[in-house]
Amino acid sequence: MAKDLGTEETPQQAEQQDPEVGPAWLMGDRLKMTKESHSNSWKSSLAGSHAGSRAGSQVESTGTHNTKMTTDAQEAQERWCTKMRMSAEALDSLEQGQQSDDSGTFSSNSTRCGDTVLTFKDVAFQVTLNTGEKKEILAPISGHFESGRLAAIMGPSGCGKTTLLDILAGQKSDTYSGTVHFNGRPRDKLFPRISAYVPQEDEMPKYLTVSEAVEFNGMLKFERPSFVSRKMERQWILRRLEVLGLLEVKDTYIGDASSLRGISGGQKRRLSLAKRLTSGAQVFFCDEPTSGLSATDAETCMRYMKHIAQFYNVIVVVVIHQPRIEVANLFDELLLMTANPGRAVYNGKMEDVVGYLQQVGFDVPMHANPVDFFMDLVTPEVSTAEVKLFVNHYGELIEPKVLAKVDEGLAVDMPSALELLEDIRGQMLKFGRVPALRNSKYGVRFRRQLYYVFLRQLKLRWRDWKSLLADVLGAIIKALVVGIVYMRTGELDVKAQVSFFFMLCMSCAIDGLKNMPTVIGERNIVKNETSEVLYSDWAYIISFTFLNLIQAVLVHCLFVWIIFAMSGLRWTMFRSIYLWTTLLAVTMDAMYLMVAAVAKDSTTAIIMSLPFMMLFLLFNGFTATRSSVVPWMRWAIEISPVAYSIQQITFTAKWAYADNDSLVSSYTYIITTSDYKDQPEVAVVVIASCFAIFKIIQMICFHFLNNIKR
Ligand SMILES: Nc1ncnc2c1ncn2[C@@H]1O[C@H](COP(=O)(O)OP(=O)(O)O)[C@@H](O)[C@H]1O
Ligand SMILES: [Mg+2]
Repeated sequence: MAKDLGTEETPQQAEQQDPEVGPAWLMGDRLKMTKESHSNSWKSSLAGSHAGSRAGSQVESTGTHNTKMTTDAQEAQERWCTKMRMSAEALDSLEQGQQSDDSGTFSSNSTRCGDTVLTFKDVAFQVTLNTGEKKEILAPISGHFESGRLAAIMGPSGCGKTTLLDILAGQKSDTYSGTVHFNGRPRDKLFPRISAYVPQEDEMPKYLTVSEAVEFNGMLKFERPSFVSRKMERQWILRRLEVLGLLEVKDTYIGDASSLRGISGGQKRRLSLAKRLTSGAQVFFCDEPTSGLSATDAETCMRYMKHIAQFYNVIVVVVIHQPRIEVANLFDELLLMTANPGRAVYNGKMEDVVGYLQQVGFDVPMHANPVDFFMDLVTPEVSTAEVKLFVNHYGELIEPKVLAKVDEGLAVDMPSALELLEDIRGQMLKFGRVPALRNSKYGVRFRRQLYYVFLRQLKLRWRDWKSLLADVLGAIIKALVVGIVYMRTGELDVKAQVSFFFMLCMSCAIDGLKNMPTVIGERNIVKNETSEVLYSDWAYIISFTFLNLIQAVLVHCLFVWIIFAMSGLRWTMFRSIYLWTTLLAVTMDAMYLMVAAVAKDSTTAIIMSLPFMMLFLLFNGFTATRSSVVPWMRWAIEISPVAYSIQQITFTAKWAYADNDSLVSSYTYIITTSDYKDQPEVAVVVIASCFAIFKIIQMICFHFLNNIKR
């Protein structure tokens, strides 16, 4: 597929080539045909739109300095878009089956959906300060965005751009006022299925490849038709990657800044977009997708976004900071805000900015970036700012027009989210059976969520072999250290043997501490994904618990086996010792994970786990027995998995050495003085209950605490 489409070059490279000759990958026969058949219509539509905009624009009519720059930028964009468009048109025709290959093609948004609109009215947000005072962050603001157009939200730092974007995307966790309508209806619970929120920092697992990350999102957003094979799925993903110029890094790990070299910052931003593109979203909300990128990367990224808006006919709303002129010119709409509180000072076409500024008495200096110039005028901290003036002008000149448009937008009768999803499902039916549309915020059934989340977890663990190896080596070294101390315990007296059981249970009880940083590290990624309504957090907790359990049981087996072999105790005891120490390790692990779900970071988690650890480790029924502790603390021994494990292992040892009278009598003495009762059923029930309680609390805390606050 990659070869067929031949996208072996970056957009930058594409841009450097002669537009008439075309880049090498376009010269294949099939694509050459596509070029001929589509480029004309694209070029003419582009020319038409620009001609139209120029005719109506006050930018041209004023004949200002930046006409030349704007024209250059438009030409560069046209060249870039023409190439990208042809590539995308090729994809489109492939998707539509006009040039289908042997395997057929499949796509969730193969045909463009109809027009969509997003309208918001009087959206406002205020916070209560520590002093009890209320502070207005966002004064009532209204607006209207349409599909196929790239809209920018700009303004000085702290003016409430992210707040507004979060509210529009339905991601704001605090209460706000105002209404947000999609296609003339209030957003419903299906809105997350047709919208995509791209946060400023998109955290992704470092050991996932680019194509796997995209595939994961795609698989969780749609039920796949029955005839769609793996190969077709893969093609579909490669197509999305091509549209965003990520084909060449499709098999590269995402990586991170410290331990694993992965894709670049710009590619990561584009991957964030590609992931959402597979979800068939009709509205994209992107928070500062270009911050932290080089100017070239930022431009490339925005060009791709423009391309997505036009090609997929979707709404793309972008919060952006100080774009350079080439980037600013890519936007169709601009919502400019001022700070303290956040208010709109401009809301309209980007191309009309220069004209508007002139209308209110400000000429953009020669070679200045009009957007930068405008920003300076509405940034309260800048000495030459005219915030009040612009707020007043907005109220007089722009707001009435915006409100008229908003009222129109609120009154339209366009397809609901459910109808759009039905439409997409209808398109998929040609690829086989598709389960009936579910009226749920999740794209796929819980079973499938669990399946994909589990598979990904398994893959990530396997790839992070260094951590696996560290786990195994750690267990071996620990076993050797404890083993050397208790070497040949089997030949010693009961006191030595019982101390060995005690030490063994203690080491098993603290082993789970090591899992806390891992689960806390993964939590942010999971929280991001669950806030995108990709899957339920239960799917993650069940997968994690299961995999953790398997890993713990296997590594624990190695640990106990080494220690046991070194101790020289009778092998008839091994099964019982392994059983009780495993139950203990797994239950204590559940306790640590419960604490980790509550704690906000690893350090807090360790501090918080100490009291629980002390409770179970000190009330162990061996150093503190049922008869030695104060009566009102006896319950601590009755619920301690450590105490039950030591107790049951002691009984096992007594039977294992039943032929040795002296050992038997010593064991009987210890059992009597420690008040031990041979009650394996009670031990299992208590340990299992502890496990269940810890797990339930962990799940509840994971769901409700440490959520992403926006
Ligand atoms: N949930 C919240 N609680 C308290 N303050 C908030 C909250 N959300 C936003 N703010 C405040 O609102 C202001 C605007 O924030 P933000 O929307 O992130 O600005 P921008 O994205 O324009 O830089 C900031 O001062 C921020 O601290
Ligand atoms: Mg922000």
